[in-house]
Amino acid sequence: MKKLAYLLCGVCCLLLASCATSPENIRERVDFGEGWRFQLGDEPQAMNVAFADEDWRLLNLPHDWAIEGDFSEDNPSGTGGGALPGGIGWYRKTFVPEKADAGKQFRIVFDGVYMNSEVFLNGVSLGHRPYGYITFSYDLTPHLKWGEENVIAVRVDNSEQPNSRWYSGCGIYRNVWLVKTGAVHVAEWGTYVVSENVSDAQADLNIRTRVANESDASVQVKVRSFLIDAEGQIVASGETECPVEAGKESETSQSLQVEQPELWSVDTPYIYTLLTEVVQDGKTVDRYETPVGIRSFSFDAEKGFTLNGKPMKINGVCMHHDLGCLGAAVNVRAIERQLEILKEMGCNGIRCSHNPPAPELLDLCDRMGFIVMDESFDMWRKKKTSHDYARYFDEWYERDLRDFILRDRNHPSIFIWSIGNEVLEQWSDAKADTLSLEEANLILNFGHSADMLAKEGEMSVNSLLTKRLAELVKELDPTRPITTGCNEPNPANHLFKSGAMDIIGYNYHNANIPDVPKNFPGKPFIITESNSALATRGYYRMPSDKVTICPDRWDKPYTDPTFACSAYDNCHVPWGNTHEETLKLIRDNAFISGQYVWTGFDYIGEPTPYGWPARSSYFGIVDLAGFPKDAYYLYQAEWSDKTVLHLFPHWNWTPGQDVDMWCYYNHADEVELFVNGKSQGVRSKTPDCLHAVWRVKFEPGSVKVVARKGGETVGEKEIRTAGEPAQIRLTPDRAQLDADGKDLSFVTVEIVDKDGTLCPNADNLVNFQVEGNAFIAGVDNGSPISMERFKDNKRKAFYGKCLVVLQNTGKPGEAKLTATSEGLSQAEISVVAE
Ligand code: GAL
Repeated sequence: MKKLAYLLCGVCCLLLASCATSPENIRERVDFGEGWRFQLGDEPQAMNVAFADEDWRLLNLPHDWAIEGDFSEDNPSGTGGGALPGGIGWYRKTFVPEKADAGKQFRIVFDGVYMNSEVFLNGVSLGHRPYGYITFSYDLTPHLKWGEENVIAVRVDNSEQPNSRWYSGCGIYRNVWLVKTGAVHVAEWGTYVVSENVSDAQADLNIRTRVANESDASVQVKVRSFLIDAEGQIVASGETECPVEAGKESETSQSLQVEQPELWSVDTPYIYTLLTEVVQDGKTVDRYETPVGIRSFSFDAEKGFTLNGKPMKINGVCMHHDLGCLGAAVNVRAIERQLEILKEMGCNGIRCSHNPPAPELLDLCDRMGFIVMDESFDMWRKKKTSHDYARYFDEWYERDLRDFILRDRNHPSIFIWSIGNEVLEQWSDAKADTLSLEEANLILNFGHSADMLAKEGEMSVNSLLTKRLAELVKELDPTRPITTGCNEPNPANHLFKSGAMDIIGYNYHNANIPDVPKNFPGKPFIITESNSALATRGYYRMPSDKVTICPDRWDKPYTDPTFACSAYDNCHVPWGNTHEETLKLIRDNAFISGQYVWTGFDYIGEPTPYGWPARSSYFGIVDLAGFPKDAYYLYQAEWSDKTVLHLFPHWNWTPGQDVDMWCYYNHADEVELFVNGKSQGVRSKTPDCLHAVWRVKFEPGSVKVVARKGGETVGEKEIRTAGEPAQIRLTPDRAQLDADGKDLSFVTVEIVDKDGTLCPNADNLVNFQVEGNAFIAGVDNGSPISMERFKDNKRKAFYGKCLVVLQNTGKPGEAKLTATSEGLSQAEISVVAE
């Protein structure tokens, strides 16, 4: 994060020196999250300036009030929504815009408010926005009182639930910005940069810039574009004249040639910065930065996905937006940590399921190298839960879809637009709904003439709606393909029949995938959702539990959510497959562009197939606390270049008990297992089986796997039988933080025996105490059924581990964490912020 700030600062200094323009830069983008008052509960007068809010809680945004609450079966979100509270909440902020700023334009940007927000400035409503995942903004200028106190009030209504099939969070859960500009400036989301004719030798950069003129006189401005490389050097530039009438916007286009461009890829995500300057009467009146990644790509019906001319598979995962114990409240480091853990696994793609993500996620994907499938909606007109977005769709879909594309279309990491996930309009037996073609034309604003309607009379309303959504996207960005996640694989699917899908996307349905080339000739294909394999980190069912190595299918009674499926890759939802099955399918079929596994991390809500007290999902490759499950190492072995040798389960069983030992590995020809030094046999993976397995009799001591290549030992892994819990081990992911009030250290807490071996079944309660410049932002242990609060200073271990997240207070210096637990010796660590 620091490096990036330095880089941009370096770029600006360089430009100030090199461009013969005024150094005045009047655009400012200020983090507006500090010092808000909050109250849970409705307060009809709270929009008024004079309203007394001194008793309200003072906090900084982003904020999610639901994550602070208690789990309850009675919360209206239900277990699907995480069983946490909803309700109505109010936020107020008092601020004084400096007199010196009078004449500037002030715009407030909300990256996301869940949901149904209404924003007031000095008692005047600026507007309301139902969709909780969309970014929106309001012009404050007409109602501002310069040099005096102004009050922004925001009402958030998430009382009608369920409205989401997963945990949404509640409140102003993303960042809020105050954008100050002059009267003439680059319009909101006003640049659009496309790289074309890309090769190692050259690339064309086509730039469109919209300039807004909020003054009452027409102006003639120059728009200058500078492409700046990562070292801060200007590598291309262009300039055009742009007349803009009073109160209007105009657009200007430029084309730049870049010689020997550094190409963006998942391994080298090279980012240029496009600096746009608006020059009026010889004076620079605006400066605006756009990240640029130069890359070429294609999706092919036979060859799959190609990036910069090289075929590759998209090895992606789906992610919901919650950050575990931090809830939905955006924190850049928390998102970065999730992405680091996934990248380390070899993951190179993120599907933003099933809604527009926080912009910070996309920034990180740009800079860390992920192939993003950016998604707009989980439903269209047909609802999936009783109070969801379907009720706003007719009125808002166009606006929300446009804003989504405009906000995101410059991110080099985005390669696919998804206009929906498993929308119920897909089903071939879904009739033309309640609307006739004529009504749909009118209500949904298709803008079709009677002639066009007659011609399209054959097409269902659902197909026409699909076409309409796709047209809206294409109008704003024709460079990326459109898909949807469909669980109706039949070509009669209304979405497929619309002809508007550039890529056919299946959720699950592996059995239908071999028929895709026949059923959809000429269409590229991707698995938009795969492998809902179920696993609880640390839990293993053994042969004596009557589950053998054979697939453990859905027919088992799912009665005890504590002991959800074992971590072996033999357990999955009935509509899915095992991880290995899908990996092999993709490996063996060139036409499959790749997959997005359901999911990368466990998320709050949707504990399918369990009900209460289960309140978070079992689907992730990584648990809710960020601890990898065993499947993580299967993917790491198959997807990454890292050398992997992972042996599981633990070695604490009943003497004489049969135990299945599994091993994921790569970069070796064979693996041999030893129990207390005695060989249990040599095994090798085969094209059909991506793991090695031994059934052995447990005896206390050690189990060890040795990997060999060409007869040479290349790796060893030993697991010892743990004794009684004796100590706590604390391991922070980072001990050096930024003193910015936001940075985090994720501290892994392990219960270990006297020799330091992890006690794999320990569930000791651990208490935390922090001294110095940090506080506890959250605690977790990955258990999907724990009723303990996420905001607390204690947590029980779950299969030997838990997590405490420290957040810097904004001050530099040291913070000391002490962990204590009855009967165990305590542990301490320190983190330093500067
Ligand atoms: C899919 C759906 C996901 C999730 C998943 C659970 O059908 O698209 O959002 O619900 O099932 O298995």
